[in-house]
Amino acid sequence: MKMRALKALAFDAFGTLFDVHSVEEACEAVFPGHGAELGRRWRQKQLEYTWLRSLMGRYASFEQVTDEALRYAAASLGLELSSESRARLLQAYRALQPFPEVSEVLHQLAATYTLVVLSNGTAVQLHTLLRRSGLDGYMTRVLSADEVGIFKPHPRVYALAEEALQLPRGEIGFVSANGWDVAGAAAYGYWTFRVNRQQMPEELLGFPAAAVGTSLTELVRVLQT
Ligand code: LAC
Repeated sequence: MKMRALKALAFDAFGTLFDVHSVEEACEAVFPGHGAELGRRWRQKQLEYTWLRSLMGRYASFEQVTDEALRYAAASLGLELSSESRARLLQAYRALQPFPEVSEVLHQLAATYTLVVLSNGTAVQLHTLLRRSGLDGYMTRVLSADEVGIFKPHPRVYALAEEALQLPRGEIGFVSANGWDVAGAAAYGYWTFRVNRQQMPEELLGFPAAAVGTSLTELVRVLQT
């Protein structure tokens, strides 16, 4: 499809706009020598719990899932998680920094496209992160899975952008660092861009990204061609 047919872009939040690496640093400060592994297990379990709860029909907020995933990840490494450490690590999720190019890229894109966030995070989490990093002005809407009580990649969540923007899905682009999230959005019918910052292999789910780059700067380039 032609890029110029796009009118709006919806962005995933965690790992796409906001760098979750700082969570590993917080993990390392609390549990020296275990930061990288705890951070990795925490993120993986957080995703698993979103998918499991969606399959079970037992939605809980991303905040709750994040907390429960942290407790599981710490226990899986035999680490004792005090209530102070737990609070400190959860706080790290509320203070994530955007990737360095995000502000400039959103500034450029906002001149041409309507921009929204479409994330599994709660509206409170997302508004807090956007406000802290001065990005809230670029986003017309903040769309949260919390509104529909199920997580991405369920089609109901992707539908939020189409409904909020009042645009046909073929005019909406979806941007994510997560291969599974791109697959879900592409299956829904959005044009997709994957910010493959870690240079991971393509997910084999039958719905590859329409375009791939290693930073959001490449999204601008792709949209201009
Ligand atoms: C999000 C997670 C999936 O922001 O990265 O929705």
